[in-house]
Amino acid sequence: MKEQKPAVWYEHLHTEKHTGARRGRLHTPHGVYETPMFMPVGTQGAVKGVNTRTLKEIGSQFILANTYHLWVRPGDELIAEAGGLHKYMGWDQAILTDSGGFQVFSLSDARKLKEEGVTFQNHVNGDKMFLSPEVAMRIQNNLGSDVMMQLDEAIPYFETYDYIKNSMQRSLRWADRAQQYHKKTDSQALFGIVQGAGFRDLRTESARELVKMDLPGYAVGGLSVGESKKEMNRVLDFTMPLLPEDKPRYLMGVAAPDSLIDGVIRGIDMFDCVLPTRIGRKGTLMTSKGRVVIKNSRYKKDFSPIDPDLTYYSDNPIRKNQFGNLAQYDLPNYSPYQNLSRSYLHHLFNANERLGAQIASEHNLRYLLHLMEEMRQAIEEDRLLEFREKVLEDYGYNKK
Ligand code: GUN
Repeated sequence: MKEQKPAVWYEHLHTEKHTGARRGRLHTPHGVYETPMFMPVGTQGAVKGVNTRTLKEIGSQFILANTYHLWVRPGDELIAEAGGLHKYMGWDQAILTDSGGFQVFSLSDARKLKEEGVTFQNHVNGDKMFLSPEVAMRIQNNLGSDVMMQLDEAIPYFETYDYIKNSMQRSLRWADRAQQYHKKTDSQALFGIVQGAGFRDLRTESARELVKMDLPGYAVGGLSVGESKKEMNRVLDFTMPLLPEDKPRYLMGVAAPDSLIDGVIRGIDMFDCVLPTRIGRKGTLMTSKGRVVIKNSRYKKDFSPIDPDLTYYSDNPIRKNQFGNLAQYDLPNYSPYQNLSRSYLHHLFNANERLGAQIASEHNLRYLLHLMEEMRQAIEEDRLLEFREKVLEDYGYNKK
């Protein structure tokens, strides 16, 4: 009999010769996607300022949405009634939903954390709400995301050993409860989250226990929260070898170009972060030659395009691969705004035209999606380390 695959599964294509970086594919109920990948964040069921047509045009594969926000408003039951989140927001590709843990801990007031779950006041109208591993699963079942994250506790990196140990062990018990609750395993995949901050023994315990649960994928959480990049790499160095090679691995909340490459080198397949849209809205552009703060007066008469390494073309860039998804190499250096100058964007931001924020957000996403496309090719051609040097040099990291 053919082995029953989970709703989301990893197909391995190539291991980079010098680093062990992975080139693969994620098979989901909403298509097949190329890894390593970056997932744009649409917290409230919308990537801020970017419509779904454009998201496809710039090469997005998965997008991410948040359990917490959609539960508070408009409500997961309303979304279920509308036919699920894909239909509600008009996105027919894959969706990953974060569990709400991170957002409850960063946004809400008057939190009370217990074994059973967390009670808090929501940030919209102050209503008292209760989130447990089971409630987070029920909401994500209603949303119908392809990948659901277990409820975990997001904690500061520099807490005491005892605090982190207790919290990590609670997150493990919560993962177990989420798995017990989850019945729709053929249409939605539950990922566990490895916690334990910077403590090797705690990360090891967390990874080992989650792996025993045989979940379809694993995330590394609790990173990129104020620790140094060197520290993040140190944690990944000892955590990644503990995770199974035949399952996808996801590093939560990371988007800096050097961190993406360093994560891929250590075996990460998936990333997400609000960074490109958040800084884009404020007028910071990510380009192959580093960050550009577009309001700076030096761009007033800069008639060069936003990114010197990307090209514009007006043909419809959407072409399909054998799975019916965007074919990665059909978009080589394409960016939709390369016909516009830095001067024009400077003007839009100065004049408070909202188009400026929109273009900057879309451009930044395109920059990162393009970086991942190039990274996938560099893995296939066993030249990821040279690629890393080039990106770091061009972006300006080596000058800092
Ligand atoms: N997003 C970024 N980091 C985390 C984490 O540790 N847990 C969850 N649930 N979401 C995150």
